[in-house]
Amino acid sequence: MALHPIPINFGQIDPDKLIGRDRVLEICWTRLEQGSSLLVTGERRIGKSSIAQTLDARPRPDWIVVYLNVEAITSVEDLVRSLLAALQREQRIDRRAKKALGGLLDRVSGVSIAGTGVEVRQRTERAAYELLQELIEKTSESSKLLLILDELPILAQTLAKNSVDDALLLLRTLRSLRAAYPNHRQLLCGSIGFHHLLADATEIKAAVNDLFTIAVDALDPNSAAVLAQGLLLGIGREVALEDPIITAIVEATDGIPFYEHHLVAALEHQER
Ligand SMILES: Nc1ncnc2c1ncn2[C@@H]1O[C@H](COP(=O)(O)OP(=O)(O)OP(=O)(O)O)[C@@H](O)[C@H]1O
Ligand SMILES: [Mg+2]
Repeated sequence: MALHPIPINFGQIDPDKLIGRDRVLEICWTRLEQGSSLLVTGERRIGKSSIAQTLDARPRPDWIVVYLNVEAITSVEDLVRSLLAALQREQRIDRRAKKALGGLLDRVSGVSIAGTGVEVRQRTERAAYELLQELIEKTSESSKLLLILDELPILAQTLAKNSVDDALLLLRTLRSLRAAYPNHRQLLCGSIGFHHLLADATEIKAAVNDLFTIAVDALDPNSAAVLAQGLLLGIGREVALEDPIITAIVEATDGIPFYEHHLVAALEHQER
């Protein structure tokens, strides 16, 4: 790969600056095309979200891809609202589906029925799930729809604080939607695993065991070296791929891109 500077980045990465993930991206698309929904797993900070965001930023033709980080979402109503807003922004959705989504948006504002009783909450939740189903049905009518829910285990954990059944209902509903709509896929990932949700994880597993697992590893040594080289160039240090500093960075970080960014950031202001 041609040598080019890579800016140090601790936030969302520019897909053009993603190094060493072509193969895993290819596998994701192959499995999605074959009909699987995906569970993307891997150590903390290994690069799961960056892969998910790149699928969103570079969708294959015929696909509508929506990426949502659901970490801060606290209810199913909020989830539906955020999804609708994200879908409304999607260029690839045809006019008919956009119109239908507009109708759902009007309804979602009426979903939060005033009151705090259990019955009111259940009714609100039911209405939100109905909307979620309609939203997927309408959007996946004429195109393939990939919904990426990053940090879903955190949302499930938030729901589980009220009741574990609420978390299970969300996971089971998502599963039934995957099964019901042939044009619809999901990609689920997060910084914690689903097994953290419950002491007895059997039911959680049952709700996600239809997913094809994509295990994300550290970068291969060559890609890790290319990233180190690009990051160094980004801070004004041009070195060959074989330079000992590159070998040292790759070894010290185990090829985990996040740590490479950190290490090179530490070198940035060091006296030479
Ligand atoms: N392939 C890559 N090439 C270059 N930089 C990368 C790559 N993958 C990840 N990074 C960098 O590492 C940071 C952390 O990656 P990312 O957020 O994707 O990891 P994660 O596995 O989702 O982490 P968490 O476990 O916290 O959810 C990103 O902000 C990005 O700067
Ligand atoms: Mg992440």
